[in-house]
Amino acid sequence: MTQLTIALTKGRLERQTIALFEKAGIDLSFMKEKQRKLIFNSPDKKFTFLLVKAADVTTYVRHGVADLGIVGKDVLLEHPLGYYEMLDLGIGKCKFSVASTKNYQPDDYKRKRIATKYPTVASEHFRQKGEDVEIIKIEGSVEIAPVLGLADAIVDIVETGTTLKENGLEIFEDICSISARVIVNKAALKRKREAIIQLFHTLEPVCEGGNEV
Ligand code: PRP
Repeated sequence: MTQLTIALTKGRLERQTIALFEKAGIDLSFMKEKQRKLIFNSPDKKFTFLLVKAADVTTYVRHGVADLGIVGKDVLLEHPLGYYEMLDLGIGKCKFSVASTKNYQPDDYKRKRIATKYPTVASEHFRQKGEDVEIIKIEGSVEIAPVLGLADAIVDIVETGTTLKENGLEIFEDICSISARVIVNKAALKRKREAIIQLFHTLEPVCEGGNEV
């Protein structure tokens, strides 16, 4: 039997992925009593799951340590090379937006400073609009940057909108929608093609499809 190694984003997406696999009839109960474990082998030997940080999913897949990866489109837009993106699981839905305090003037002629954890997404967005901006890379809590005057606006993920609201920010523009994707190592797609396609056929009926902004 072909065994598939899957790098799975730890946290919220991990729980939603387990629920989706179970809906498709794949028993992942062996992942539920996990405590601090990060590697899980299914009793039937079909799967090994690696629990890793979102940005590391592409690294494990690119290097062939994992055959497949499950990660948000936000991460893929920042790290776009070295794998095939093959299936939209339709979970982990959110969007990229430009947000700021209500006195932000998106159309004035000042060169804007944009704080973000996603410099590639942010610069590409403003480049497409023909707008020259300064990107300030931030590692987290991006929402406070416009409040404290570090930046004019932010580019960040919005899911429920609660974080923006609680920090006095509002959305000025939506950039694109995001959902969780399955990525595949290029060599694994050749070597383990049958098992991968079979897994996709099992998952496809329960995928909710992508969302559009
Ligand atoms: C994201 C994002 C926002 C928040 C938005 O952070 O950066 O802070 O979620 O969610 P909401 O619209 O439902 O309030 P995440 O939780 O991924 O944590 P991180 O800052 O550690 O990346």
